[in-house]
Amino acid sequence: MKSRSLVSINDYSKDEILNILDLAAGFEASPEPHLLNGKVVATLFYEPSTRTRLSFESAVSRLGGKIVGFSDSSSSSVTKGESLKDTIMTVSNYSDLIVMRHPLEGSALYASEVAKVPVINAGDGANQHPTQTLLDLYSIKKTQGSLENLNIFLVGDLKYGRTVHSLLMAMSHFKNTTFNFISPQELQMPDEYKLYLDNLGLKYYEHSDFTDIISRADIIYMTRVQRERFSDPMEYEKVKNIYVLRYSMLENTKDNLRILHPLPRVNEIHPDVDKSDKAYYFTQALNGVYTRQAIMASILGLK
Ligand code: CP
Repeated sequence: MKSRSLVSINDYSKDEILNILDLAAGFEASPEPHLLNGKVVATLFYEPSTRTRLSFESAVSRLGGKIVGFSDSSSSSVTKGESLKDTIMTVSNYSDLIVMRHPLEGSALYASEVAKVPVINAGDGANQHPTQTLLDLYSIKKTQGSLENLNIFLVGDLKYGRTVHSLLMAMSHFKNTTFNFISPQELQMPDEYKLYLDNLGLKYYEHSDFTDIISRADIIYMTRVQRERFSDPMEYEKVKNIYVLRYSMLENTKDNLRILHPLPRVNEIHPDVDKSDKAYYFTQALNGVYTRQAIMASILGLK
């Protein structure tokens, strides 16, 4: 896996995914404050971010590396018309690794093809968010003890939600996963992902509500309806508050149930859920630091 970009979760085999999760557990148990000494990581964020950018930057800092980059492309020469290619070629000269978020699907793949250093996709439009998936898998494994035999509920914006697209592909490696897709008609899981599961012979079920079946869930993965991906604001208004998970809904759920959300949330998880032991989303965000340390160490070939 040395010196290889991470563009899609499918860039990693099942064994490579499991290796990253083991490495992340190692970083959680035993911090390595000097592992990235002398290394420079560039974080290029063409779209807003709190968790992904700051957890990468925290991960680099905690490993002794240095950060360059921008959190707002309007402060860069992009505003003067510089192309993505020229930006990536230039930043390749200044860094050992590039972490990039960009609104265009396919931008991370393109960047990886022109960069002289590995590129990590920190989200490309509605396409993929592979490092989020690795921290989601780490969180699922840690809370469930296994990545097999799980009933996973994916709830909300399954059309534009890049995190659920990557998670679906990753969970397809593991035995007896049952997927339940809960979304309004307008935001259903795209056909290409359903076809992906069909071709692997994996089961999925589609629902418009989950209150009647919530007792079966091992993982409920809530997602935000993403206003920024809608071209028609009225369409967003129709579906924005369609699912709101509340504490009272957790009464008859499994003991092992954990609620995940890539965050940020808007209204889809009521704040009263935060008091539940089943609410895991803030620890999930913490797990991003260990997981991203593992990804960077692995890509840079550092032990
Ligand atoms: N989960 C996630 O991608 O959050 P940010 O948009 O805050 O980075």
